[in-house]
Amino acid sequence: MHWMTDWPTPFPIVVAEARGARIADIDGNRLDDFCLGDTGSMFGHSPPPVARAIRRQAGRGLTYMLPSEDALVLGHLLAARFGLPFWQIATTATDANRFALRVARAVTGRDKVLVFNGCYHGSVDETMVRLKDGRPVNRPGLAGEFRDLTQRTKIVEFNDIGALQAALEDRDVACVITEPVLTNSCMVLPQPGFHEALRKLTRETGTLLLIDETHTISTGPGGYTKAFGLEPDLFVLGKPVAGGVPASVWGMSEAVASRYAAYNQTKEPGYSGMGTTLSANPLQFAAMRATLEEVMTEQNYAHMERLARKLEAGLAAVIDRFGLPWHVARVGARVEFICAPGPLANGAQAETAHAPKLEAAIHLALVNRGVLIAPFHNMMLISPATAAAQVNRLISAFADAAAELTR
Ligand SMILES: Cc1ncc(COP(=O)(O)O)c(C=O)c1O
Repeated sequence: MHWMTDWPTPFPIVVAEARGARIADIDGNRLDDFCLGDTGSMFGHSPPPVARAIRRQAGRGLTYMLPSEDALVLGHLLAARFGLPFWQIATTATDANRFALRVARAVTGRDKVLVFNGCYHGSVDETMVRLKDGRPVNRPGLAGEFRDLTQRTKIVEFNDIGALQAALEDRDVACVITEPVLTNSCMVLPQPGFHEALRKLTRETGTLLLIDETHTISTGPGGYTKAFGLEPDLFVLGKPVAGGVPASVWGMSEAVASRYAAYNQTKEPGYSGMGTTLSANPLQFAAMRATLEEVMTEQNYAHMERLARKLEAGLAAVIDRFGLPWHVARVGARVEFICAPGPLANGAQAETAHAPKLEAAIHLALVNRGVLIAPFHNMMLISPATAAAQVNRLISAFADAAAELTR
């Protein structure tokens, strides 16, 4: 996979084992892991309740094409936690987004979607659009794509309420899909009033709102959505939702679900374009139930938040001490240092702030000091298993790297 070679090391680190927030390679090197599988292991490697659930389920069958009792429990857990009543299961966040967008188009009868510049929602064709010099283009680097994706995807800058309003005015957009915070470029936080305007404008124009919480679930047990009172029509969460077992969930509001049921009455039975055979298997249900009940707890999130604040303050102090024109951004347990002044307002600014060569040098310096951070931008996650001593080691490794750079 390309991201196994995207790391700053000249060859991938081959892992022998990982536990909690520690990773050991086959040469016996031990690293403090702040990458945590780029969020898939945000709750630590092999959280004990999930490992137990996997062991239990391993003796009862791994895939049936039928629900287990865990499925019933999980439905209630998801509804209580995220506030949407109807849920479906997929195996990746990519698929969950694809299926939710399909439902959005089905119920609105509109063929367009809207994304924000700098977004990433997985390998979802209709989101693979960028603004280049202010013009929408297919994302450079996209393989085997002959369609002009900009025909059906509108794109505006995050935090640009005027551009959003203009793009929705034609009432031809089925759905706006967004993360609450842009985390797949250098981190861009929403400006005050942005989410309120987004919800108001989507409602006024009959456009659905899909919130992709796959990364921002770092905010708290109910994600950014719960913490900030967002009211999405569709909701997606993948990566850590089953504690590292591949699984994702997507939820629908009552209104979307009933419109979709009515839409289905008008269709001949047949392929819906949604599925994948191994999705909603009993291993996923068991792992998700354990994650929601025993891992994504208030107590664990309180620990994550506390150490993330410590990391944020420690990194900011180093930046200050060395007089670097950089800044730190954070959404809950997700922290990022950005090698440019901030805060950033949109995807275009985030692209300019990205400094691949400098970042690769820092990542390598950190690896050499026993710390692993995500190879994409400068992302660091705090898990329930992360210890204060690990955060201290990361801050002092970062200070070391900054000293060497400024020298
Ligand atoms: C916000 C967001 N949504 C969806 C995805 C896709 O997740 P997956 O690669 O597990 O399908 C990603 C991956 O990074 C993501 O960051």
